[in-house]
Amino acid sequence: MKSATAIAHPNFALIKYWGKSNAGGNIPAMSSLAITLDSMISETTVSFPDDLKQDTWILNEVKQPSLGQIKPPCEHLKKISPIDQPCLIESKNNFPTAAGLASSASGIASLVSALDKILGTKLSKQQMIEVAMLGSGSAARSLFPGFVLLDVTEKDISCETILEAEEWPLNVIVCVTSTNQKTMSSRQGMEISRKTSPIYSDWVSNHQQDIELALQAIAEKNFHQLGKIAEQNCLKMHQVMKTSQPSIDYWNLATHACVENVKDMQGKGIPVFFTIDAGPQVKIICEPDVSKEVVTLMEKVPGVQSIIESCLGQGARIIHE
Ligand code: PMV
Repeated sequence: MKSATAIAHPNFALIKYWGKSNAGGNIPAMSSLAITLDSMISETTVSFPDDLKQDTWILNEVKQPSLGQIKPPCEHLKKISPIDQPCLIESKNNFPTAAGLASSASGIASLVSALDKILGTKLSKQQMIEVAMLGSGSAARSLFPGFVLLDVTEKDISCETILEAEEWPLNVIVCVTSTNQKTMSSRQGMEISRKTSPIYSDWVSNHQQDIELALQAIAEKNFHQLGKIAEQNCLKMHQVMKTSQPSIDYWNLATHACVENVKDMQGKGIPVFFTIDAGPQVKIICEPDVSKEVVTLMEKVPGVQSIIESCLGQGARIIHE
Protein backbone atom coordinates (compact mmCIF):
# COMPACT_ATOMS: atom_id res chain seq x y z
CA MET A 1 0.00 0.00 0.00
CA LYS A 2 1.25 3.48 -0.88
CA SER A 3 2.20 5.59 2.14
CA ALA A 4 4.38 8.54 3.12
CA THR A 5 5.91 9.20 6.53
CA ALA A 6 7.27 12.52 7.71
CA ILE A 7 8.73 13.74 10.97
CA ALA A 8 8.88 17.21 12.50
CA HIS A 9 9.97 18.64 15.82
CA PRO A 10 8.23 21.02 18.21
CA ASN A 11 9.40 24.61 18.21
CA PHE A 12 9.39 26.86 21.27
CA ALA A 13 8.86 30.57 20.76
CA LEU A 14 11.36 32.91 22.41
CA ILE A 15 9.28 35.86 21.24
CA LYS A 16 5.73 34.60 21.31
CA TYR A 17 2.49 35.20 19.57
CA TRP A 18 -0.72 35.32 21.60
CA GLY A 19 -3.72 36.54 19.64
CA LYS A 20 -5.02 36.04 16.12
CA SER A 21 -5.38 38.77 13.52
CA ASN A 22 -8.77 39.94 12.31
CA ALA A 23 -7.91 38.52 8.89
CA GLY A 24 -9.18 35.11 10.06
CA GLY A 25 -7.72 31.79 8.87
CA ASN A 26 -5.68 31.32 12.05
CA ILE A 27 -3.27 34.15 11.17
CA PRO A 28 -1.34 35.48 14.20
CA ALA A 29 -1.77 39.15 15.07
CA MET A 30 2.00 39.51 15.50
CA SER A 31 5.31 38.02 14.44
CA SER A 32 7.11 35.38 16.49
CA LEU A 33 10.59 33.95 16.77
CA ALA A 34 11.24 30.34 17.77
CA ILE A 35 13.77 27.57 18.05
CA THR A 36 13.15 24.14 16.57
CA LEU A 37 14.28 21.20 18.73
CA ASP A 38 15.69 17.84 17.74
CA SER A 39 15.07 15.11 20.32
CA MET A 40 11.30 15.58 20.55
CA ILE A 41 9.60 14.07 17.51
CA SER A 42 6.16 13.92 15.90
CA GLU A 43 5.85 11.27 13.20
CA THR A 44 2.93 11.08 10.77
CA THR A 45 2.17 8.41 8.19
CA VAL A 46 -0.53 8.92 5.57
CA SER A 47 -1.92 6.01 3.53
CA PHE A 48 -5.05 5.05 1.56
CA PRO A 49 -6.35 1.65 2.77
CA ASP A 50 -8.91 0.27 0.26
CA ASP A 51 -11.64 -0.44 2.83
CA LEU A 52 -11.54 3.01 4.50
CA LYS A 53 -14.88 4.85 4.31
CA GLN A 54 -13.78 8.30 5.53
CA ASP A 55 -10.68 10.25 6.46
CA THR A 56 -9.48 8.82 9.77
CA TRP A 57 -6.96 10.14 12.31
CA ILE A 58 -5.20 7.89 14.80
CA LEU A 59 -3.16 9.84 17.34
CA ASN A 60 -0.79 7.94 19.65
CA GLU A 61 -2.66 4.72 18.70
CA VAL A 62 -6.08 6.14 19.67
CA LYS A 63 -8.70 6.70 16.97
CA GLN A 64 -9.84 10.31 17.22
CA PRO A 65 -13.58 11.14 17.11
CA SER A 66 -12.94 13.75 14.39
CA LEU A 67 -10.11 15.33 12.43
CA GLY A 68 -10.30 18.37 14.75
CA GLN A 69 -7.45 20.81 14.22
CA ILE A 70 -5.98 18.89 11.28
CA LYS A 71 -9.16 19.08 9.22
CA PRO A 72 -8.50 22.45 7.49
CA PRO A 73 -5.02 21.54 6.13
CA CYS A 74 -6.25 18.05 5.12
CA GLU A 75 -9.28 19.38 3.30
CA HIS A 76 -7.28 22.08 1.57
CA LEU A 77 -4.67 19.64 0.26
CA LYS A 78 -7.20 17.04 -0.78
CA LYS A 79 -9.10 19.67 -2.73
CA ILE A 80 -6.08 20.57 -4.86
CA SER A 81 -4.89 16.98 -5.31
CA PRO A 82 -6.05 14.64 -8.09
CA ILE A 83 -6.36 11.82 -5.50
CA ASP A 84 -9.87 11.59 -4.11
CA GLN A 85 -9.83 8.69 -1.66
CA PRO A 86 -10.27 8.56 2.14
CA CYS A 87 -6.93 8.72 3.87
CA LEU A 88 -5.65 7.19 7.08
CA ILE A 89 -3.50 9.53 9.16
CA GLU A 90 -1.44 7.88 11.89
CA SER A 91 0.46 10.29 14.14
CA LYS A 92 2.54 9.70 17.22
CA ASN A 93 4.65 11.84 19.53
CA ASN A 94 7.59 10.67 21.64
CA PHE A 95 6.63 13.27 24.30
CA PRO A 96 3.41 14.35 26.11
CA THR A 97 0.65 15.50 23.76
CA ALA A 98 -1.39 18.73 24.16
CA ALA A 99 0.46 19.61 27.37
CA GLY A 100 2.10 22.86 26.31
CA LEU A 101 4.98 21.18 24.48
CA ALA A 102 4.00 22.30 20.96
CA SER A 103 2.83 18.87 19.82
CA SER A 104 0.26 20.48 17.53
CA ALA A 105 2.97 22.47 15.72
CA SER A 106 5.19 19.43 15.12
CA GLY A 107 2.20 17.17 14.42
CA ILE A 108 0.76 19.50 11.82
CA ALA A 109 4.15 20.21 10.18
CA SER A 110 4.77 16.45 9.82
CA LEU A 111 1.21 15.92 8.55
CA VAL A 112 1.43 18.62 5.89
CA SER A 113 4.79 17.25 4.69
CA ALA A 114 3.49 13.66 4.49
CA LEU A 115 0.25 14.71 2.76
CA ASP A 116 2.06 16.90 0.24
CA LYS A 117 4.27 13.94 -0.66
CA ILE A 118 1.56 11.30 -0.99
CA LEU A 119 -1.02 13.54 -2.64
CA GLY A 120 1.59 14.78 -5.13
CA THR A 121 0.66 18.42 -4.54
CA LYS A 122 4.31 19.56 -4.71
CA LEU A 123 3.70 22.70 -2.64
CA SER A 124 6.21 25.55 -2.68
CA LYS A 125 7.72 26.57 0.70
CA GLN A 126 5.32 29.51 0.88
CA GLN A 127 2.33 27.25 0.20
CA MET A 128 3.55 24.82 2.88
CA ILE A 129 3.66 27.71 5.35
CA GLU A 130 0.13 28.80 4.48
CA VAL A 131 -1.30 25.28 4.65
CA ALA A 132 0.44 24.50 7.97
CA MET A 133 -1.04 27.70 9.40
CA LEU A 134 -4.54 26.49 8.56
CA GLY A 135 -3.96 23.94 11.35
CA SER A 136 -2.06 26.01 13.90
CA GLY A 137 -0.49 29.46 13.91
CA SER A 138 2.82 28.10 15.19
CA ALA A 139 2.99 25.00 12.94
CA ALA A 140 4.73 26.79 10.06
CA ARG A 141 7.75 27.37 12.32
CA SER A 142 8.24 23.58 12.73
CA LEU A 143 8.78 23.26 8.98
CA PHE A 144 12.14 25.00 9.45
CA PRO A 145 15.39 24.27 11.32
CA GLY A 146 17.27 26.26 13.94
CA PHE A 147 16.17 29.80 14.80
CA VAL A 148 12.98 30.61 12.92
CA LEU A 149 11.21 33.91 12.32
CA LEU A 150 7.51 33.92 11.47
CA ASP A 151 7.11 37.42 10.16
CA VAL A 152 3.55 38.73 10.01
CA THR A 153 2.85 42.09 8.40
CA GLU A 154 -0.42 43.64 7.25
CA LYS A 155 0.41 42.59 3.69
CA ASP A 156 1.95 39.16 4.00
CA ILE A 157 3.40 36.33 6.04
CA SER A 158 6.80 34.75 5.69
CA CYS A 159 8.60 32.11 7.69
CA GLU A 160 12.30 31.31 7.46
CA THR A 161 15.38 30.15 9.29
CA ILE A 162 17.45 33.11 10.39
CA LEU A 163 20.26 31.05 11.90
CA GLU A 164 20.98 27.35 11.45
CA ALA A 165 21.11 25.15 14.57
CA GLU A 166 24.85 24.39 14.11
CA GLU A 167 25.69 28.08 13.88
CA TRP A 168 24.77 28.68 17.52
CA PRO A 169 24.44 25.38 19.37
CA LEU A 170 22.21 25.80 22.41
CA ASN A 171 20.57 23.18 24.58
CA VAL A 172 17.00 23.06 25.79
CA ILE A 173 16.09 21.36 29.05
CA VAL A 174 12.35 20.79 29.27
CA CYS A 175 11.09 20.41 32.84
CA VAL A 176 7.81 18.52 32.65
CA THR A 177 5.69 19.46 35.65
CA SER A 178 2.44 17.82 34.52
CA THR A 179 1.49 15.53 31.66
CA ASN A 180 -2.22 16.37 31.90
CA GLN A 181 -3.75 17.76 28.74
CA LYS A 182 -4.42 21.46 29.13
CA THR A 183 -7.94 22.45 29.99
CA MET A 184 -7.95 25.52 27.74
CA SER A 185 -6.52 25.36 24.23
CA SER A 186 -4.25 28.19 23.05
CA ARG A 187 -6.86 29.08 20.48
CA GLN A 188 -9.57 29.58 23.10
CA GLY A 189 -7.19 31.37 25.45
CA MET A 190 -5.98 33.82 22.81
CA GLU A 191 -9.50 34.71 21.83
CA ILE A 192 -10.43 35.43 25.46
CA SER A 193 -7.31 37.59 25.90
CA ARG A 194 -7.94 39.50 22.67
CA LYS A 195 -11.46 40.32 23.77
CA THR A 196 -10.93 41.02 27.47
CA SER A 197 -7.36 41.76 28.59
CA PRO A 198 -6.89 45.50 29.24
CA ILE A 199 -3.21 45.15 28.29
CA TYR A 200 -3.78 43.21 25.06
CA SER A 201 -3.41 46.22 22.76
CA ASP A 202 -0.11 47.24 24.42
CA TRP A 203 1.10 43.67 24.04
CA VAL A 204 0.40 43.83 20.30
CA SER A 205 1.75 47.34 19.71
CA ASN A 206 5.04 46.81 21.62
CA HIS A 207 5.68 43.39 20.20
CA GLN A 208 7.78 44.31 17.17
CA GLN A 209 10.31 45.94 19.47
CA ASP A 210 10.89 42.58 21.21
CA ILE A 211 11.32 40.88 17.84
CA GLU A 212 13.96 43.46 16.80
CA LEU A 213 15.87 43.08 20.08
CA ALA A 214 15.84 39.29 19.80
CA LEU A 215 16.97 39.40 16.17
CA GLN A 216 19.85 41.62 17.16
CA ALA A 217 20.82 39.31 20.05
CA ILE A 218 20.75 36.30 17.71
CA ALA A 219 22.81 38.12 15.06
CA GLU A 220 25.42 38.91 17.75
CA LYS A 221 25.00 35.48 19.42
CA ASN A 222 24.54 37.41 22.64
CA PHE A 223 23.12 34.81 25.04
CA HIS A 224 22.51 37.26 27.88
CA GLN A 225 20.54 39.70 25.71
CA LEU A 226 18.51 36.93 24.09
CA GLY A 227 17.65 35.49 27.50
CA LYS A 228 16.66 38.87 28.88
CA ILE A 229 14.27 39.73 26.06
CA ALA A 230 12.88 36.17 25.83
CA GLU A 231 12.04 36.07 29.55
CA GLN A 232 10.48 39.54 29.45
CA ASN A 233 8.37 38.64 26.44
CA CYS A 234 7.26 35.36 28.03
CA LEU A 235 6.25 37.07 31.28
CA LYS A 236 4.37 39.76 29.34
CA MET A 237 2.38 37.08 27.51
CA HIS A 238 1.50 35.38 30.80
CA GLN A 239 0.47 38.75 32.21
CA VAL A 240 -1.89 39.21 29.24
CA MET A 241 -3.33 35.78 30.04
CA LYS A 242 -3.72 36.55 33.74
CA THR A 243 -5.44 39.88 33.14
CA SER A 244 -8.00 38.25 30.83
CA GLN A 245 -11.51 37.53 32.01
CA PRO A 246 -11.73 34.78 33.05
CA SER A 247 -8.11 34.91 34.14
CA ILE A 248 -5.93 32.30 32.42
CA ASP A 249 -3.10 30.75 34.41
CA TYR A 250 -1.26 27.76 32.97
CA TRP A 251 1.37 27.64 35.76
CA ASN A 252 1.40 25.23 38.68
CA LEU A 253 3.52 25.26 41.85
CA ALA A 254 6.37 23.42 40.18
CA THR A 255 6.37 25.95 37.30
CA HIS A 256 6.97 28.72 39.85
CA ALA A 257 9.64 26.65 41.61
CA CYS A 258 11.46 26.03 38.30
CA VAL A 259 11.49 29.76 37.51
CA GLU A 260 12.93 30.47 40.98
CA ASN A 261 15.67 27.94 40.33
CA VAL A 262 16.51 29.51 36.97
CA LYS A 263 16.81 32.88 38.72
CA ASP A 264 19.16 31.28 41.31
CA MET A 265 21.31 29.80 38.56
CA GLN A 266 21.47 33.17 36.81
CA GLY A 267 22.54 34.73 40.11
CA LYS A 268 25.44 32.26 40.19
CA GLY A 269 26.47 33.25 36.65
CA ILE A 270 25.19 30.06 34.93
CA PRO A 271 24.11 30.93 31.35
CA VAL A 272 20.42 29.91 31.38
CA PHE A 273 17.04 31.45 30.70
CA PHE A 274 13.49 30.14 30.74
CA THR A 275 10.43 30.28 28.57
CA ILE A 276 6.91 28.94 29.22
CA ASP A 277 4.03 28.49 26.78
CA ALA A 278 0.36 27.60 27.14
CA GLY A 279 1.04 24.92 29.70
CA PRO A 280 2.93 24.39 32.98
CA GLN A 281 6.20 23.08 31.51
CA VAL A 282 9.35 25.16 31.90
CA LYS A 283 11.76 25.20 28.98
CA ILE A 284 15.27 26.17 30.00
CA ILE A 285 17.66 27.30 27.30
CA CYS A 286 21.34 27.02 28.15
CA GLU A 287 24.80 26.85 26.71
CA PRO A 288 25.82 23.22 26.07
CA ASP A 289 28.67 23.13 28.61
CA VAL A 290 26.31 23.76 31.55
CA SER A 291 23.57 21.42 30.36
CA LYS A 292 24.47 18.52 32.70
CA GLU A 293 24.67 20.83 35.71
CA VAL A 294 21.25 22.34 34.86
CA VAL A 295 19.66 18.88 34.56
CA THR A 296 21.13 17.78 37.90
CA LEU A 297 19.77 20.90 39.61
CA MET A 298 16.34 20.80 37.97
CA GLU A 299 15.80 17.10 38.72
CA LYS A 300 15.77 18.02 42.39
CA VAL A 301 13.05 20.67 42.08
CA PRO A 302 9.85 19.43 43.80
CA GLY A 303 7.13 18.72 41.25
CA VAL A 304 9.42 18.17 38.26
CA GLN A 305 8.18 14.83 36.93
CA SER A 306 10.66 14.32 34.14
CA ILE A 307 13.23 16.14 32.08
CA ILE A 308 13.65 16.10 28.31
CA GLU A 309 17.00 17.25 26.94
CA SER A 310 17.36 18.52 23.43
CA CYS A 311 19.64 20.39 21.06
CA LEU A 312 18.32 22.61 18.28
CA GLY A 313 17.33 20.63 15.23
CA GLN A 314 16.06 20.27 11.70
CA GLY A 315 12.84 21.17 9.97
CA ALA A 316 10.08 18.80 8.84
CA ARG A 317 11.15 16.07 6.44
CA ILE A 318 10.02 12.88 4.72
CA ILE A 319 11.63 9.77 6.21
CA HIS A 320 9.80 7.08 4.27
CA GLU A 321 7.67 6.76 1.14
O1 PMV B 1 -0.64 28.34 17.30
P1 PMV B 1 -0.79 27.67 18.60
O2 PMV B 1 -2.19 27.30 18.87
O3 PMV B 1 0.16 26.51 18.70
O4 PMV B 1 -0.38 28.72 19.76
C1 PMV B 1 0.91 29.00 20.17
C2 PMV B 1 0.88 29.80 21.43
C3 PMV B 1 2.17 29.88 22.21
O5 PMV B 1 2.83 28.64 22.23
C4 PMV B 1 1.81 30.22 23.66
C5 PMV B 1 3.09 30.99 21.71
C6 PMV B 1 3.91 30.67 20.47
O6 PMV B 1 4.23 31.64 19.75
O7 PMV B 1 4.24 29.52 20.25
